[in-house]
Amino acid sequence: MRKPVIAGNWKLFKTITESVALVNELKPLVAGNQGVEIVVAPVFTALSRVGDAIKGSNISMASQDCYWEEEGAFTGEVAPKLLKDAGCSHVIIGHSERRQYFGETDLTVNKKAKAAIAAGLSAIVCVGESLTERESDQTFNVIETQIKGGLEGLADLAFTHIVIAYEPVWAIGTGKTASDAQAQEVHAFIRQLIARLFGKPVADAVRILYGGSVKPDNVKGLMTQPDIDGALVGGASLKAESFAAIANF
Ligand code: PGA
Repeated sequence: MRKPVIAGNWKLFKTITESVALVNELKPLVAGNQGVEIVVAPVFTALSRVGDAIKGSNISMASQDCYWEEEGAFTGEVAPKLLKDAGCSHVIIGHSERRQYFGETDLTVNKKAKAAIAAGLSAIVCVGESLTERESDQTFNVIETQIKGGLEGLADLAFTHIVIAYEPVWAIGTGKTASDAQAQEVHAFIRQLIARLFGKPVADAVRILYGGSVKPDNVKGLMTQPDIDGALVGGASLKAESFAAIANF
């Protein structure tokens, strides 16, 4: 069956020292948890040191973005193979904050996902509708466009390295979670869409995470939904205790 993934997106928070301290605090709190894939995503500058700190533990590491070229004259960018070198096994791609503030599009998401997988990383590809889109009944159209564009041309085989994160933009950092039923409805839609595009075995195996104000007290309800396979956690991942409580749901 699908092993749940609980991933903590630390966004633009914490120095190197604070990041290492957080992951060291987290390690004993989740040490007995073999049933869940636990991932943390620190800022770029902390990756290498956090990568050293998680060696031999059951915690994996993601970066929050990557570029699609391996090397070259691309000032300011970081290639997937360098992220792997720093200790990452995963990379978050197409987070709504990147789409909103940094011009990320379905096309760049697609290029990044392909490059990440080619470099041996797993890609956590984010999709989600805004409040205006939800209120104008555009949710399914938006999700379909983002999934089709972001995952275009990926081979079935690549899907062992793809995790999808559904994060309604209106629920991120707002304290407003989608209800269990609202989230499940979109997750089921995504799984059906993946079945249509890539076949049922791929759809049955792919993990679809929910993100948007996930907290220790709402994770259980979300995780009992048949198509929710984990969570992408922002705010509540910045404290070891609350993130561990979510991972140990
Ligand atoms: P949040 O962020 O849990 O703080 O809402 C989720 C995310 O942006 O991944």
